[in-house]
Amino acid sequence: MSSHPTGPVAPRPGSLRAVGPTTPRWPLGPDGIAYGGDYNPEQWPEEVWQQDVELMAQAGVNLVSVGIFSWALLEPREGELDLGWLDRLIELLHAHGIAVDLGTPTASPPAWFFAAHPEARVVTRDGTVLGFGSRGMAGPSSPAYRQAAVRITTALAERYGRHPAVVLWHVHNEYGAPVSEDYSESSAAGFRVWLRERYGSLDALNAAWGTAFWGQRYGEWEHVGVPSVAPSVVNPAQRLDFARFSDHALRECFRAERDAIRAHSDRPVTTNFMATACPSTDLWEWAREVDVVSDDHYLDAADPRGYVGLAMAADLTRSVAGGRPWILMEHSTSAVNWQPRNVAKRPGEMARNALTHLGRGADAVLFFQWRASRSGAEKFHSAMLPHAGTSSRVWREVCELGAEVGRLGEVRGSRVRADAAILWDWESFWAQDLEWRPSVDLGHRERTRAVYDRLWRDGLTVDFAHPEADLSAYPLVVAPASYLLSDVAARNLTAYVEAGGTLVVMCFSGIVDEHDAVHPGGYLAPLVDALGVTVEEFLPLRTGERVRLAWVDGADHVVSDVWADHLVLRGAQVLAHYVDGPAAGGAAVTRHVRGDGTGWYVSTHLTGDGLAAVLHRAYADAGLAASELPDDVEVVVRHGSEADYLVAVNHGEESVAVPAEGTELLSGEQVSGAVKVPAGGVVVVRGRVR
Ligand code: GLA
Repeated sequence: MSSHPTGPVAPRPGSLRAVGPTTPRWPLGPDGIAYGGDYNPEQWPEEVWQQDVELMAQAGVNLVSVGIFSWALLEPREGELDLGWLDRLIELLHAHGIAVDLGTPTASPPAWFFAAHPEARVVTRDGTVLGFGSRGMAGPSSPAYRQAAVRITTALAERYGRHPAVVLWHVHNEYGAPVSEDYSESSAAGFRVWLRERYGSLDALNAAWGTAFWGQRYGEWEHVGVPSVAPSVVNPAQRLDFARFSDHALRECFRAERDAIRAHSDRPVTTNFMATACPSTDLWEWAREVDVVSDDHYLDAADPRGYVGLAMAADLTRSVAGGRPWILMEHSTSAVNWQPRNVAKRPGEMARNALTHLGRGADAVLFFQWRASRSGAEKFHSAMLPHAGTSSRVWREVCELGAEVGRLGEVRGSRVRADAAILWDWESFWAQDLEWRPSVDLGHRERTRAVYDRLWRDGLTVDFAHPEADLSAYPLVVAPASYLLSDVAARNLTAYVEAGGTLVVMCFSGIVDEHDAVHPGGYLAPLVDALGVTVEEFLPLRTGERVRLAWVDGADHVVSDVWADHLVLRGAQVLAHYVDGPAAGGAAVTRHVRGDGTGWYVSTHLTGDGLAAVLHRAYADAGLAASELPDDVEVVVRHGSEADYLVAVNHGEESVAVPAEGTELLSGEQVSGAVKVPAGGVVVVRGRVR
């Protein structure tokens, strides 16, 4: 089990960022946990559909997503609808008690659309015009696309908006992939409108972008363009704004479809996110637009500990949902088809993956896709019903998992409580990812995963939080990579420390404001009150160079690489100093008491034992302790109004005893004192957990 925090720090008044859907309207539809996946039966003759629904019943499927890529079949010619097949499909599913998550097909406009509107094709940063024959994503700012998308969405909402089988709307598919930015004329026009609204005047835009540098100053709005490939590095403030605008343009497309649906349907509306896999969508913003958050997750087959990445994606999804239950819209039963080496899941791995998502807050376990495709780009992607048919390991495991999920209905609606928060801000990541930063070796993703990994191994349950969000529920907040930090965020973090929180900030944080301009006062200046330290100069290391850190309390030296800072102490106490390297003799890790809390600063790139050495010391300030369970066992608790549910997943090769009391729901057995989790197994114990 994870350890127990000493209790939240006192809440503070003030206008902090709201998190999650504003009008949560899930659950609707199937009782218990939803189980199923994307269903694309238009690839098969209708006789097959009958077999599909019978097999779905066998597998315990109660929800399928249909119509996601069906625009060309639903509207074969502009304005001409052919909904007969969808009528028959929805009726068939309904007759078999299978609920429908109805897609709007706008992620892939038909060939006729691009023939009529060639200007709606997406243009890449280097000027390439993207062709047809794949998923035909159109430019999100194209007026013709927006009109056509709302037209087909309205037709579907009118026809099926109150159909008893339809319990959820699935708008578009994975906004931000495969296209997140469009450098076309319509996009440039949209960008200018957005900039005018944001800045009001050209003077304000010139100031915000710092266009006095390199002679970029604009005298006419019409001269402001998209940041296409240029002779050298393009103004980072312009690129950051274009990333914001591009995300906003996609959200406008979503809103238009959502509102067209709401005019005819009272069913909840979602769109499938890719929490950790899509860098271009700011899900703190997106989550406010949907009625229920849903996410797609695929394991990174190259990562032998991909299940930690999975847990991180699930925790991030739950966090953007504001802690509310969410829908796992897609994952895979076995291999995907789009990685360099598509490793098949081992026996039991699919269930571990699915139930980890459930343990971390998912109330629906869905896959891409129901039946493996015979043709097309994804025919080698695994499915619930593989090419090998029902005499296959995957099918047997799909049926077993369906039965298990069926026994977990009472878990629905319960919520996870986190021990700690990690700061996560897409805008900061966009800014940090631009060119000409002090070192290519320091990445926000690697830093965040390293910190998450440590907390995961220590058995702590983690939420992710925006730096401007209310942090008062967390005894520990870690900022692994907060390069861009607004003044509002800095004040929020300072108030968090003053109220008793433990804040750990890592190198290359607190550097620039929202325009990618260095903070007045220098690096880390906005956090000086919280941390008692500033950075005089970055001292990045050469490839492979390592430095040693000595703890003032005499503990063993630790080694770090990539980065060092020349720190200036402004009240903080030194916990470790550099023994060698460019900052030799200087402070490396500091701790500052401010109000009732402490602010920690880690000026170098720590991994492994070094990272553990810092975080374990910070846990002590936060009243947290690392779990004593083996490293490859994860335990999460979902708290309900009647009972709590402990979900334990054993990724290791030895069985393990996890302290628990109550009833194990998958076997129905009573548990007293501890539950045995077999190697590779999962248990779910209903009981009362503090
Ligand atoms: C994404 C898409 C699906 C499918 C899967 C394959 O998540 O949404 O349509 O392409 O990937 O892994």
